[in-house]
Amino acid sequence: MNLQELEKIAQEMVAPGKGLLAADESFGTIEKRFNAVGIESTEENRRAYREMLFTTRNIGDFLSGVILFDETIRQKASDGTPLPKVLEEQGIIPGIKVDKGAKDMALSPGEKVTEGLDGLRERVAEYREMGARFAKWRAVITIGEGIPTRRCIVSNAHALARYAALCQEGGLVPIVEPEVLIDGDHSIEQCYEATEWMLKTTYDQLYELGVELTGTILKPNMVISGKQAPVQSSVEEVAQATVECLLRSVPAAVPGIMFLSGGQSDLQATQHLNAMNKMYKNLPWELSFSYARALQQQPMELWGGKAENVEKAQKVFYHRAKMNGAARSGSYTEDMEKEAA
Ligand code: 13P
Repeated sequence: MNLQELEKIAQEMVAPGKGLLAADESFGTIEKRFNAVGIESTEENRRAYREMLFTTRNIGDFLSGVILFDETIRQKASDGTPLPKVLEEQGIIPGIKVDKGAKDMALSPGEKVTEGLDGLRERVAEYREMGARFAKWRAVITIGEGIPTRRCIVSNAHALARYAALCQEGGLVPIVEPEVLIDGDHSIEQCYEATEWMLKTTYDQLYELGVELTGTILKPNMVISGKQAPVQSSVEEVAQATVECLLRSVPAAVPGIMFLSGGQSDLQATQHLNAMNKMYKNLPWELSFSYARALQQQPMELWGGKAENVEKAQKVFYHRAKMNGAARSGSYTEDMEKEAA
C-alpha cells in the first residue's frame, strides 16, 4: 500500500470550499430519478446528462471529486473525450462506486446487506487504470420495529472493512459509507443511537482488517429525525446531534467526513452542513458534502433531457455547488440563494 499517495488524494478530496458530487446512480436509481421528471432512461440520455453536469464551467471551484457509475466511467463526451478526462480537465478527481447494491439480508427481514466483494481486487485495478483515484461502497441501515439488528450492523461493517482494505491495497481511497436511512417515523434520538452503533462497529472492523484511517474518507448520514416523524428537529439540533455523535465515534485520524444528503431538501442539506461548520471550529476532521440528490434535483428537472436546456441547468447546478462550497466554512447565508434568480 502506498499510504502517502492515498493520504494526498484524501486531503485533496476535502480541500477547503469543495466537496463531492455523487453521480453514481445505478441503472435502477437513475431510472427512478429520470422518470420522476419525465426523462427516459436511455444510455444516451444518461451520458448526455452526466456530460451536462461535468462540463459546467468552473464547477471545479466547488467540486474536488465526482463519484461515477461503471457505465459512466466508460462513456465519452460528445467531442470524444472520455468523461473521467473531462473531469480531470476541470481539476476534479474521478471516483467510482464499486459496490453491487444493498440486497435483502438472509434471515433478517426488513434489513439489507451490501454485495460486491467478489472480483473486487480486479475491478479496483481496472478502475484505477481508467483514472479513478477513490471508490465508494454504501451500506444501508434501516430503523424500524426491532431493527437494526446486531447481525445486520456487523455484517455491513465487516463488508465495508473488506472493501476498504482491497481499495487501499489497489491504490484507491475508500469512501466508507454507512447510511442510516432517513425513511420512517423514528426520532432524532433513535437515529443518533443507530448511527453511533454503526460507526463504532465500522471503525472496529476497519481496525481489525488493517485499514489505515488516514487514507480513508467517511460518508455518513446526518443525525436527523425520520422523514415521517411527527417532531422534526431544527437545523441547530441536527448540527449538534450529528457532531456530538461523530465526536464519540470517528477517530481523529480520519481526514474528512463528507455527508450524504439522504433525502433532505437541497436547502436543508446546505443549512445543516453550514451550521456544523459555523458552530464547531477546530474539529479533528473536515466536514464536507458528497451529495447526489441535494445537488442534482433542480438541474435534472430543468434539463429535462433537452439540449436547449443545458445552459439553464448548468447555471442552477453551479449555484447549488457554490452554496455548499460556502457551507464548508460556515459562511453560507440564505441571502446568497438570491444569486440564482
Ligand atoms: P444522496 O445525497 O442523494 O443521499 O446520495 C448520496 C449517495 O451517494 C448515496 O450513496
